[in-house]
Amino acid sequence: MPEAEQKLNEAGLRAAKYLNTSETAIFHKRRTLYAADDLTILQFVWPPHVVLFPHDHQMWAANGIYGGGEDNTFYRRTDDGLEVSGGSELRAGDVALLGRDVVHSVENPRRSYAAALHVYGGDFFGAPRSQWDPVTGSRSPFDVEDVRRTLADAQARAEPAPDDPG
Ligand SMILES: [Fe+2]
Repeated sequence: MPEAEQKLNEAGLRAAKYLNTSETAIFHKRRTLYAADDLTILQFVWPPHVVLFPHDHQMWAANGIYGGGEDNTFYRRTDDGLEVSGGSELRAGDVALLGRDVVHSVENPRRSYAAALHVYGGDFFGAPRSQWDPVTGSRSPFDVEDVRRTLADAQARAEPAPDDPG
């Protein structure tokens, strides 16, 4: 693994442990960088190979990547659920601008951590939004706990087993 990727991995693991534990979940308001009715700024640390289910925001968003990679899949709504309409591969230095009607899923395609700042044009935690089951396509109310669980599961898979010498 290249040295820069190794260093990002080490820093990402430390940050993910801090941000994604159940007590200090990344979505807890005190862990956000800014939260108001008209603006929310979040720092995300994506564990390796995490895939976050499709969801909408109901507000504009600007996602800036400063480490690793974040792949986006975009969807259009159909009578049966969703169908893929496109995608983008973001790398450090890239910013994705998303309109308020966008439905997307997010994936860290790498074996290293990814780091991003997400800026939302509204109350990310309070606005009613939707998520979709990636298998059945069924729609349900957005649940921040599902996001936290998805991140924690991926982080657990990323960490070496206790008896793994490394
Ligand atoms: Fe999103």
